[in-house]
Amino acid sequence: MQTTASLKPNYGNWVSKKFIVVPGPLCLVFLGLAFLSPYWAILAGLFGLICVYFLLSYYRFSPAGGDVQAKIVGLILERLEWDGMGQALDIGCGNGALTLRLAKKYPAARVTGIDFWGKNWDYSQQVCERNASLAGVVGRTVFKKASASALPFADGSFDLAVSNLTFHEVSDTADKREVLREALRVVRPGGKFAFQDLFLVEAIYGKPDELVSLVKSWGICEVEFVRTCDEAFIPALLKLPFMVGRIGILYGEK
Ligand SMILES: C[S@@+](CC[C@H](N)C(=O)[O-])C[C@H]1O[C@@H](n2cnc3c(N)ncnc32)[C@H](O)[C@@H]1O
Repeated sequence: MQTTASLKPNYGNWVSKKFIVVPGPLCLVFLGLAFLSPYWAILAGLFGLICVYFLLSYYRFSPAGGDVQAKIVGLILERLEWDGMGQALDIGCGNGALTLRLAKKYPAARVTGIDFWGKNWDYSQQVCERNASLAGVVGRTVFKKASASALPFADGSFDLAVSNLTFHEVSDTADKREVLREALRVVRPGGKFAFQDLFLVEAIYGKPDELVSLVKSWGICEVEFVRTCDEAFIPALLKLPFMVGRIGILYGEK
């Protein structure tokens, strides 16, 4: 029998459960050793704090805690000036959160989601396909295992490309600007794009205005950048640099 929960899409959580299940028990172990030395008590406190921080973050990202994750994904959709005709690509689709919202927003579009689905994340192609079925967009969505570092598509294959919080994760490309360039390669001339990532982390992307100039130097005609980390709905708790405190969207037309 299907439960109500099994009828709901599962878009996963950007806080991996290992950040909670590893420090939590370690905190308890160190607490048990605290009678031996105060250092164990300090370690217990540290791991307890880490566990509580990620537990609260997990909650705030989840539907029960205000769905901050879905709202951040929605910021990409707000930036799109697309007529919805043709093929769209979501790079690093996770469990299909953005892919499926695109398919629902643009009923004439066909949307492809690609992801590496590595073991660092609790996402899978199977869950994407189940979510597509629950969203009623099965015939117009395709999910494929592929790497963002070498997309298995010819130049200019898509009318729109989007991506959310993926480029900085691509481990086999040292310079993440090359991942951005690869994403733009598969957009047709005149096609649209909107990518959200840690674009305000200068160690990864350099200064935002320099990044915009670089992208224009690749022959991209319209490029805009917007800071999204300042959005009022994002709680202070999540505004740390390694969470979503340095995010922005690069968008425009090729
Ligand atoms: C923070 S999650 C975001 C997932 C999804 N975009 C979302 O908004 O829910 C980062 C995603 O990047 C994917 N990823 C990491 N390296 C990748 C690669 N080389 N190629 C494709 N996807 C990759 C991960 O599997 C994960 O799904």
